Amino acid sequence: MNLETFELERIQSEWEHLVKYNLSESGVKPLSVSEFLSPGQVEDLLKIPLGYTQTNGTIPLREAISLPFPVGAESVLVTNGGAEANFLVSWWLLKEINPAGKILLMTPNYMQIQGVWKALGGSVVPFRLMMGRNRWEVDLEGLKAGLSKDVIAIAVCNPNNPCGSILDSQEMKAIADIAEDNSLWVISDEVYQGAELDGNKTPSMFDLHEKVFVTASLSKAFGLPGLRLGWAITPSEKIANELWAYSDYTTICPSALSDWLATIALQPDTRKMLETRTHRIVNKNWPLLRDWMDSHGETFDYLAPQAAAICFPRINLSITSLEFVHRLLREKSVLLTPGEHFGVAGHLRLGYGCEADYLSGALDLVSEMLSEL
Ligand SMILES: Cc1ncc(COP(=O)(O)O)c(C=O)c1O
Repeated sequence: MNLETFELERIQSEWEHLVKYNLSESGVKPLSVSEFLSPGQVEDLLKIPLGYTQTNGTIPLREAISLPFPVGAESVLVTNGGAEANFLVSWWLLKEINPAGKILLMTPNYMQIQGVWKALGGSVVPFRLMMGRNRWEVDLEGLKAGLSKDVIAIAVCNPNNPCGSILDSQEMKAIADIAEDNSLWVISDEVYQGAELDGNKTPSMFDLHEKVFVTASLSKAFGLPGLRLGWAITPSEKIANELWAYSDYTTICPSALSDWLATIALQPDTRKMLETRTHRIVNKNWPLLRDWMDSHGETFDYLAPQAAAICFPRINLSITSLEFVHRLLREKSVLLTPGEHFGVAGHLRLGYGCEADYLSGALDLVSEMLSEL
């Protein structure tokens, strides 16, 4: 197994809790338990036995997850974060379809699928999201050019990390049609769905093609990453059961506490409250980040994010974005993410889902660093 370093996670693992300011997070500031449970629910929480829970997720939780989809609880597998869902789906595809299969991967992207896919023996063919005039646009010709008999799947991240962009309906349909015409699977990582700035939920790829795995979690739009609670939506009970057998070898089951808390988070009223909170945070903070970038003249070239608490500007500097991030870390104790960690040099990912004061404090230090280059 040839394990590539997952650079994005490594730098966060090493530094996110040590720096003065962490702007490497892509979701919104996490909630505490007491912020989303009523006092009565806190009492109930204390009585939960700390045993193994239903290993594919309890039925009420899987029912709540499946609500927006045209399949039921039996087609859902609950996982430890979206990360485990991506891992299991990649593993299933390489084991069940073709052990040396290729995947067409939308780039830039959260690079987990790329690393896992290569480590498990497959190969990765990137296709680009490109900075257009007003929006990030998918290179459909590049996607088609990557097709070959060994390709078994297409992976998209929509809304996209790191661009904060959303595919439009024609792009989604075009990708689904390519998958359909070539009998390919689609992995659609929809973990940022629900964190749109305009409040309009990004449609799921699930409805556009028969062979789609949707992966997602409570980590981003819900502000609950510490629950480590994610899921894979599969096309059928049969495939969900196969995937479930793979999870016997990874984490066995979600934490019982997380399963219980997630079931509450996904009840319509709580879900609405959490999504409203996220909507408020991204809309409050984006103008702060935008104005700050604008105040730096030609340094940042950006497209306004449509979703997620992240922006991915091109940065015009005399040093690489990777060098800049390392200097910022060492000299100012601020953590950002370099474009290199998403497969695209010359960009920075700035996370703005924190408290507004914290964001301003961090950006002041980034300004200082810029003036000292
Ligand atoms: C696109 C994407 N998918 C999955 C994950 C992993 O999420 P989780 O915390 O749910 O495991 C992340 C984390 O940043 C992500 O950006």
